[in-house]
Amino acid sequence: MIKKNKLLIRLSITAVICYAFNSCDTADKSHNSDPYEKKVDSLIALMTLEEKIGQLNLVGRDGNRNSATQIGPEKAEAIRKGSVGNLIGVVGAGPNREVQRIAVEESRLGIPLLFARDVIHGYKTLTPIPLAEAASWDLEAIEKSARIAAIEASASGINWTYAPMVDVSRDPRWGRVMEGAGEDPYYGSLVAAARVKGFQGDDLSKENTILACAKHFAGYGSPMAGREYSITDVSMRELYEVHFPPFEATLNAGVGTYMTSFTEVNAVPATVSRFLLTDILRTQWGFDGFVVTDWSTITQLMEHGVAADSSSAAAASIKAGVDMDMGSKSFVKNLVQLVKENKVSEKDIDIAAARILLAKYRLGLFDDPYQYTNPEREKTEVLTLENREAARDIARKSLVLLKNKDQLLPLSKKLKTIALIGPMIDDPKATMGRWKAEGNKEDVITIIQGLKNKLPETKILTAKGADYDTEDRSGFSQAIAIAKQAEVIILAVGESQKHSGEASSRASIDIPGVQMELVKELHTLGKPMVVILHNGRPLTINWINDNVPAILEVWIPGTEGGNAIADVLFGDYNPSGKLPITFPLSVGQIPIFYSYKNTGRPDDGSGSRWASKYYDIPNKPLYPFGYGLSYTTFEYSDLQIEKSKVGINDIVTFSIKITNTGRIKGEEVIQVYTRDLIASVTRPVKELKRFRKVLLKPGETKVIHFSLTTKDLKLLNEELQWVTEPGAFQLMIGSSSSDIRLEGMFELIE
Ligand code: GLC
Repeated sequence: MIKKNKLLIRLSITAVICYAFNSCDTADKSHNSDPYEKKVDSLIALMTLEEKIGQLNLVGRDGNRNSATQIGPEKAEAIRKGSVGNLIGVVGAGPNREVQRIAVEESRLGIPLLFARDVIHGYKTLTPIPLAEAASWDLEAIEKSARIAAIEASASGINWTYAPMVDVSRDPRWGRVMEGAGEDPYYGSLVAAARVKGFQGDDLSKENTILACAKHFAGYGSPMAGREYSITDVSMRELYEVHFPPFEATLNAGVGTYMTSFTEVNAVPATVSRFLLTDILRTQWGFDGFVVTDWSTITQLMEHGVAADSSSAAAASIKAGVDMDMGSKSFVKNLVQLVKENKVSEKDIDIAAARILLAKYRLGLFDDPYQYTNPEREKTEVLTLENREAARDIARKSLVLLKNKDQLLPLSKKLKTIALIGPMIDDPKATMGRWKAEGNKEDVITIIQGLKNKLPETKILTAKGADYDTEDRSGFSQAIAIAKQAEVIILAVGESQKHSGEASSRASIDIPGVQMELVKELHTLGKPMVVILHNGRPLTINWINDNVPAILEVWIPGTEGGNAIADVLFGDYNPSGKLPITFPLSVGQIPIFYSYKNTGRPDDGSGSRWASKYYDIPNKPLYPFGYGLSYTTFEYSDLQIEKSKVGINDIVTFSIKITNTGRIKGEEVIQVYTRDLIASVTRPVKELKRFRKVLLKPGETKVIHFSLTTKDLKLLNEELQWVTEPGAFQLMIGSSSSDIRLEGMFELIE
């Protein structure tokens, strides 16, 4: 009898699911609402409270990455019971197919799982860190980089990545500046949108597109004192002007999920901030995806001192607008009881579960739960030559030439003997960086390998010379010995894999350890010297800048890093990168950025001490935002502003001429800045409003046209409303934020 009843129940459920999934011809087609929403509602109606709460639960793997099932029997049973709806860190088409099978075939309703991974800058073919990619100023290449990451991840069982990280940051003490797009909200917004489009493609239900996640909402890029996991205490103005724009850009690009930050806004931890998660995200911006917490931020509410226990933390989180609990299990442990005690309404849980189920529908998981676990794709679409070439291309474009005295670079390929020295000349882990996902060190082209590939006939003498951050000088003598035999010394110094990324704030941003002593000792040999700077954040390299003729910023360049570096060092690619973040002269200047305010007592260079300045060092940075050299030179000319007076709702149009005045082809990133001269609130001395990366042959001139709309010139008034005010604007066009080549004016009139 029971068996017969179960069958009846199953049949009626099947009928209802059949209706819900529209896989039968009785579905009501009269509505023209989003078909997914109807299906979701029907499915929700079938689910128990426990099953709905299971969808809000995201847990990690158990076994190691290479074990057959990366989840143990307990977790498998939890999936069968429907109390785990999402996994992080379980990877591989094979393992994930088996785990998905448990969910789909052995649970009551067969709801597919989300499989998440931090695919931040590549899955197995690693591209440069996001901060480096931002230095390319090539939005197509950045989107393509994310596209390749999505192809590789989706071929390996992953359907959700925790990227892009869109936190704007002006504090290089914070190790996570490496994950973002630097200091500028306008440029950061464009990069953020490009990365979302790369991950999600034009159809999320395709097998090679994955759900993206805008993180960390919000304000995490300004941790007090630059210290990781510290509080964020910024004004509402800074939130709206600096931190929100890239998040809103991801939303306009269709991002499917958001992640709450570890930090707090207005003294309320993001995970329980109704202001952030409901007022801004849902009410003002209309976000219809779902919000996941960062790792265990719900239980951390007790440390913050805003929740007495896990139960009240869970209640506050879901009421504020959190939909999914990453890693703390607070939802599965407490929500059933909280609903029974009427402390949380089941409606809130239905809303959260519906948002997550909607995402699973949009991913196509209900049509084919196994579409991301196709072992054939994993064999043919991961770490391909094409993907490697794309990684090498964006890595080349990300390199920034910081100094090139007397055109020491590019080096001749006819060099007989090179000394390659430094701790990262053969360190694949450093070249991959902290967010290496499933990148293997065996697949990395290190700096040594890159030079050998480039110059098979040249003798390349190598020595580590020094470790990253020990006091050990025992390697100096060997380094000096090989340097004496070489025509050129190439020094690869900077930070190791552990010096940047999460939980890697540094109070000093000097090159760590005794590397600088090594640089200085080698410098006494008086030989041509090139420094390759390998870092995840701006560093204070003043001595190197003053004494070493050539400096190439290579960041953390990824799987093809060695080849990309060799391409630039030996002239097969003319460097075109520009800094997306300021390099300070001193850590004491932080926060330092190009779009600063003039103050009432600007430092006008007259030497007066009664000005906004330091007693001991100048205000200016070591290298400014937008800075980067080329092996050629460019001349800017003929700024033509179509109309000097423009109606406030009209468009400002202007053009310039750009000429390659050197002997080799090159790309220049033309930057357009404006300054609102008189406004109802103080405005920055300049703000980036447009840029264009232009390739020019030697002697070639191009006319480049730009236009600015009212929206581009808006400001946040005293009431925190976005408005555009009439008045005069300065127009500045140049090769960096402090290398302005053309200036003009226009006026907005009512
Ligand atoms: C980490 C990071 C977050 C990441 C998450 C999952 O703590 O803050 O960026 O996506 O946990 O690994």
